[in-house]
Amino acid sequence: MAEIDQNQMKKLAGEKAVEEFVKDGMTVGLGTGSTAYYVILKVAELVKKGYNLKCVATSIASERLALENGITIVDLNDVDYVDVTIDGADEVDPKMNLIKGLGGALLREKIVAAASLQEVIVVDESKLVEKIGTKVSLPVEVLQFGHVRTAYGLKRQGCEPVLRMKGNEPFVTDGGNYIYDCRFENGIDYLSFKESALDAIPGVVECGLFINMTAAVVVAHKDGTVEIRQ
Ligand code: 5RP
Repeated sequence: MAEIDQNQMKKLAGEKAVEEFVKDGMTVGLGTGSTAYYVILKVAELVKKGYNLKCVATSIASERLALENGITIVDLNDVDYVDVTIDGADEVDPKMNLIKGLGGALLREKIVAAASLQEVIVVDESKLVEKIGTKVSLPVEVLQFGHVRTAYGLKRQGCEPVLRMKGNEPFVTDGGNYIYDCRFENGIDYLSFKESALDAIPGVVECGLFINMTAAVVVAHKDGTVEIRQ
């Protein structure tokens, strides 16, 4: 059988997750990124079919895409909880721990994930790793104020922090903050401790480690199969 490309895998994973996890009447968290893009389009199909869904967006870009496709967006402050959030990830380990934030939306994504009964992650197989931090750098969102000092603190945690740029200017998140992409030479050990240590540095707003937050991972493979890990 011919192999499918990465974009086709993203579409398969995103659509499968919506089919499996979204039910009529739910409040749904919409992730951010190129895999979540297919989630949002599939949710829009359900809305067109008559499903009564309220959605919370994890970024301005996802909110815009959702509204353009007829999805009702509500403020996270106006719901008691989110039934299910479907979002992408940059790395997924065997225990379903994650690195997120290469798309720059990690802060809102983490707030929405924490408000969700189920956090469902959609990925193609290239995102699977044995150890977190071995493939990608860890994004850490920091306040603009004093960010160079904050980066010293990040470095003391054993990584090489690089300020994310967009053209000639630092990349600015939806929250108005900067991101340092932190490269850990041999991956990240003791994930919960590292998350606490990073988040305790003055100036750090949030890091892209999502530990013990995932209820299920929907993985699309090159051979066209889709696996659900729970
Ligand atoms: C954005 C994210 C994305 O979910 C993550 O970067 C995966 O994106 P994509 O599906 O485009 O590979 O965390 O902040």
